[in-house]
Amino acid sequence: MKQKIFLVKGDITEMDVEAIVNAANTDLILGGGVAGAILRKGGIIIQKECDNIGRIPLGEAVITTGGSLKAKYVIHAAGMNLGDSVSEKSLKDTTHNSLLRAKEAKFTSIAFPAIGTGIGGFPVKDCAVIMLDEIVSFFSNIDSSLNKIYFVLYDKSIYDEFYSVFSGKKIHFIEMEKK
Ligand code: APR
Repeated sequence: MKQKIFLVKGDITEMDVEAIVNAANTDLILGGGVAGAILRKGGIIIQKECDNIGRIPLGEAVITTGGSLKAKYVIHAAGMNLGDSVSEKSLKDTTHNSLLRAKEAKFTSIAFPAIGTGIGGFPVKDCAVIMLDEIVSFFSNIDSSLNKIYFVLYDKSIYDEFYSVFSGKKIHFIEMEKK
């Protein structure tokens, strides 16, 4: 796998990458957590573009502007229906579709949050395993311009959990501490 994977402790809205992935719902209504931070920092234009797109299927992913974020774009990964929770299948599908959107858009760098592990109620360790496995299998079958993939964990305990899963997976990843 030629892509470089980075594990970052920090705030995904501060990442200077082409696109950051939002932990979204199928209604594309930006609520709390990552979505709330994106709305606050990126601006209402992001919600307006989401409103124009309207509801998307569970597990899908769509691109909007990044507004005033450092990232030019946001990939909205619909891991759950509003008021519901994230499942293994929806997490796998939305991780895959986020990578597909990035490939189609010829992005070279994207940043993922730990989708599902907040309001979505998904176990952190399972999230790390599923997202990492999906990324490794995506790139073993599909060539893409993407060469830098960041996982940005806000919370130290989640960062540590991702670190332990990544270390056990014998993949080369680079640990980055962002204040
Ligand atoms: N940067 C990085 N990670 C963050 C940030 C941030 N600024 N803010 C929160 N997180 C972390 C949370 O701590 C959690 O570990 O992102 C993970 C995902 O949490 P949520 O954002 O709650 O996402 P999710 O669990 O997938 O639930 C999605 O919540 O906000 C609503 O509209 C959203 O309906 C959707 C649902």
